[in-house]
Amino acid sequence: MTTTRLWRTVTTARLWRTVTTARLWRDLTTTAPFGATLRGDTAMKTIIEPFRIKMVEPIRMTTVAEREEILAHAGYNLFRIPADTIVIDLLTDSGTGAMSAEQWAAMMRGDESYAGSTSWQRFESAVKDIFGFRHVIPTHQGRAAERILAATLCGPGDVVPNNTHFDTTRANIEATGATALDLPCRESADLAAVHPFKGDIDLEAVERVLEENSGKVPFVMITVTNNGGGGQPVSMANIRAAAEIAHRHGVRFYLDACRFAENAFFIQKRTPEYAETSLIDIAREMFSLADGCTMSAKKDGMANIGGFLCTNDAAVARHEEELLILTEGFPTYGGLAGRDLEAIAVGLYEALDPEYQQYRHASTGYLGKHLTAGSVPIVQPPGGHAIYIDAGAMLPHIPKEQYAGQALAIELFRHGGIRSVEIGSVMFGKRDPETGAETYAAHELLRLAIPRRVYTKSHVDYVVEAILEVYERREEVRGVEIVTQPEALRHFSSTFRPIAAPAPVCA
Ligand code: F0G
Repeated sequence: MTTTRLWRTVTTARLWRTVTTARLWRDLTTTAPFGATLRGDTAMKTIIEPFRIKMVEPIRMTTVAEREEILAHAGYNLFRIPADTIVIDLLTDSGTGAMSAEQWAAMMRGDESYAGSTSWQRFESAVKDIFGFRHVIPTHQGRAAERILAATLCGPGDVVPNNTHFDTTRANIEATGATALDLPCRESADLAAVHPFKGDIDLEAVERVLEENSGKVPFVMITVTNNGGGGQPVSMANIRAAAEIAHRHGVRFYLDACRFAENAFFIQKRTPEYAETSLIDIAREMFSLADGCTMSAKKDGMANIGGFLCTNDAAVARHEEELLILTEGFPTYGGLAGRDLEAIAVGLYEALDPEYQQYRHASTGYLGKHLTAGSVPIVQPPGGHAIYIDAGAMLPHIPKEQYAGQALAIELFRHGGIRSVEIGSVMFGKRDPETGAETYAAHELLRLAIPRRVYTKSHVDYVVEAILEVYERREEVRGVEIVTQPEALRHFSSTFRPIAAPAPVCA
């Protein structure tokens, strides 16, 4: 090969990037991002939710004073506050979506037989239809699939490259003694730069890692969309090239498929040759390039719980099923109720509905557009499931030892009752338990993840208003220090203390 072929693939991907960047800028600056609200012949500017609401859940409005008390009581960690004290919850898009009438109807026919239920048959047939792999193994959520995959294929001394590992993927790989390597593309380093596929993996780095670690790479993985890298999409050309490199080295290629339908939509809108291809066919093509995948059905499965892993390798599947039986359950339910399998079987297709995806991207883009217009620095362009505020750039007066992302998360809750999540040094940094020395994340981000089909445009307007108000008086936001922390995954349970405001200078 084939360096020439590789080079050709890389440069073709670059060319697409250049061609589509101009269109992307236009999409981001027009009043209706990504075109009209709905398919059809009238291009309306107003984004409407492509659904009616038939069941409502009240939101309890709290006051700033109440929220200050709640924060102090929770040790300033938003994972520790009661959900019914939150006005808008943007902590995660995982398992927080609203199900459709069709999903609820399917749940009613859930077959709870221990083995071989009809719900399993419907689930397996939907997954095989869209994902196309030979073996499907259900799990209770994505990280259980990751644990089973890592325990089957990884071991001490191994290296697993990814565009960016999600934290549970990294933790499960590293629990086996292997190293989880992040190889995001170069364009992703500049948070403000607009590129259509900033989620791509760095192909040259993949080639180098495979050459330098021959026999030690059990699989190469790409996460679609790249959650740890700002929710940015991965191009079909990049998936194809990464798979080709892995296969040439005799290494398996996997997808972390959590947000596969959002990624398919990005490919359709940002790659001219896929403009006329349906989302389901784009998804099928992505999966046809891989040897297997892990999936959290809590994202583009449109369900509140569930996941699975897939492989084309019968021996791998056999080993994975043995592990499954130990901790998750029999291979036809894998820790899920029959009704959960039903909800996912319907939800996977709903995620591929073009009108749903159009609305989903329009509403995330709308939030991004209005924050950008108000000068709030965000990772550009807007991702599919979330907007990431560059808290380090917004609050330059807060040093990295005082966690700008966490400080902003606390202030947003205090000010507007909005729960978000820090994706910075609290999440990715580490403190050496012996020396107390800290390592910090490359960026201090704050993620606003949008639950699927839950909030309306006026909820998003409220979020924009609250953030712009905090932005106006950003110099007043104070940093935080960590009071207590566990050894691993510290963002879930650490407690914090706001740094006291400097004493007024007396004349
Ligand atoms: N992979 C990615 C890319 C994810 O975003 C997640 C979860 C997982 C794997 C694990 O799946 O939660 O079902 O065990 N992400 C959630 C989030 C938690 O908030 O981004 P899970």
